[in-house]
Amino acid sequence: MIAKKTPEEIEVLKEAGHILAKILKTLAGEVKSGMTTLDIDDRAMELLEEVGAEPALLGYHPSFAPFPYPAATCISVNDVVQHGIPSEETVLRNGDIVNIDLTIIYKEMVVDSALTVGVGEVSDQDRKLMAATQEALAHGIKQAKPGNHIGDISAAIQEFVESRGFSVVRELCGHGVGYSVHEEPNIPNFGKAGTGPLIEVGHVYAIEPIVNAGKPDVIFDDEGDGYSVYSEDGSNCAHFEHTVAITENGAEILTK
Ligand code: MF3
Ligand code: CO
Ligand code: CO
Repeated sequence: MIAKKTPEEIEVLKEAGHILAKILKTLAGEVKSGMTTLDIDDRAMELLEEVGAEPALLGYHPSFAPFPYPAATCISVNDVVQHGIPSEETVLRNGDIVNIDLTIIYKEMVVDSALTVGVGEVSDQDRKLMAATQEALAHGIKQAKPGNHIGDISAAIQEFVESRGFSVVRELCGHGVGYSVHEEPNIPNFGKAGTGPLIEVGHVYAIEPIVNAGKPDVIFDDEGDGYSVYSEDGSNCAHFEHTVAITENGAEILTK
């Protein structure tokens, strides 16, 4: 069952989304060489406290993981595709691309958003990778309207990403959100238009293309930190995510 949020709940989600967008923007603006990913997470905690919001991922235990998540943010650098745990050992260097993914609880509602930024000067290839991923998200969001199906979002993202010569990761996907971090439905970043669950007014989705510069294959590194997912070929990965609410007029981006 895909939960439908009430107009009142969507108003709260809008407020929460606005707060999240501001925090992410601040974090992205402060990224610089020499910082550690733990510095970014500490800063996120500080900003959350200032506005009275809570980190939804801290203590969250997804089914795929061996232990509850130990931080507020997931910070995934270069060939870390997703779920990098902030660490004082991960020092950012000029040319890195850094994905910051933050999920927050505000007035009991949950919103989820992510972006990827470069540290200093990044390669042309990485700039194109980030731009294509952000644009793919916009194409996916455009398909998120009542009467369409989840597969319309998936197909739009896949088609755009592949037209740019990049590939979408198959093992990780978008999801319903609002009452909890991960709700139905799954929103894959690949698939066929016209397939999957019907999109209806009141649904709230986290749409999030996860794009590898090289091959789509990923490794769940069991010997690593328990969470980090890597690209198998070592190529870099970009990820952008918005929480959107489905209205009669289409998707409203809550985390803009
Ligand atoms: N924010 C992530 C997402 O977009 C969820 C990460 S789950 C964690 O779906 F446990 F790894 F943090
Ligand atoms: Co997220
Ligand atoms: Co998400």
